[in-house]
Amino acid sequence: MQMKKSTAVIAVLLCVVLLVSLAACAGRPASEAEKTTKAPTTEGPIDAASGSQAAETQTVPAESTAAPSGQTAAPKAGILVVYFSRTGEQYGVGVIDEGNTAIVAKAIAEQTGADLFEILPETDDYPYTYSKLTDVAKQEQRENARPAIRDALPDLSQYDTVFIGAPVWWGDWPMILYTFFETAELSGKTLIPFSTHEGSGLSGFDRKLSSACPNSTVLDGLAIRGSDCQNDRAGVESKVRSWLDGLGY
Ligand SMILES: Cc1cc2nc3c(=O)[nH]c(=O)nc-3n(C[C@H](O)[C@H](O)[C@H](O)COP(=O)(O)O)c2cc1C
Repeated sequence: MQMKKSTAVIAVLLCVVLLVSLAACAGRPASEAEKTTKAPTTEGPIDAASGSQAAETQTVPAESTAAPSGQTAAPKAGILVVYFSRTGEQYGVGVIDEGNTAIVAKAIAEQTGADLFEILPETDDYPYTYSKLTDVAKQEQRENARPAIRDALPDLSQYDTVFIGAPVWWGDWPMILYTFFETAELSGKTLIPFSTHEGSGLSGFDRKLSSACPNSTVLDGLAIRGSDCQNDRAGVESKVRSWLDGLGY
């Protein structure tokens, strides 16, 4: 009995020793794990659950916080109407002092509250008479010219939608529009073409705009007869209204 008691005491003591050493071993990996979780916390994103985070918040580099705060502070993007248009002698309307496309552009700007930008050539030696103008335009097309634009382009970062209009010249955009497509920062923007014409309609303006600006979204365009611009402004304004309604503007 005596023997059994002392054996039991030794067994209990051994268990205690064993438990103490197990606890000591278990403590080591725990503190190593702690070390490895602490390191990314000090360099990486702040973990809202840890007590040391307040101090880390102050050490986040300025550029890390600049992007989100810049995004929220950005002004609401607007709408711009860009157009090219000629006065002088035009097909079917005689001499005009306000271009057909200019009339449509202004109607769009008025109805959408957009800003306007007129593309003017740096060197304006386009002939005043219609038939001579057609010769010059044909020559520009043959040469695949890129006539320079006179004025600095507006800051396009303020706009997410750009309406772009021009007369149809020989079944295409006038070449100065290609200057615009290739120099303006139009990536990521919604582009909406419109034309004035005397029979050719939109003449592939939308398709050509898409290939010139592959990183933009091109919506359905509007084609208006040049002579209607001079003779039926109310009709033009109403066509513009229904087109804009269809597009959701
Ligand atoms: C050089 C030139 C080429 C033209 N080519 C076409 C054409 O291919 N198809 C068409 O329907 N109208 C053509 N037109 C007519 C114009 O597109 C139309 O008169 C237009 O409304 C003129 O607009 P604007 O006053 O804004 O310049 C041409 C006019 C010019 C001056």
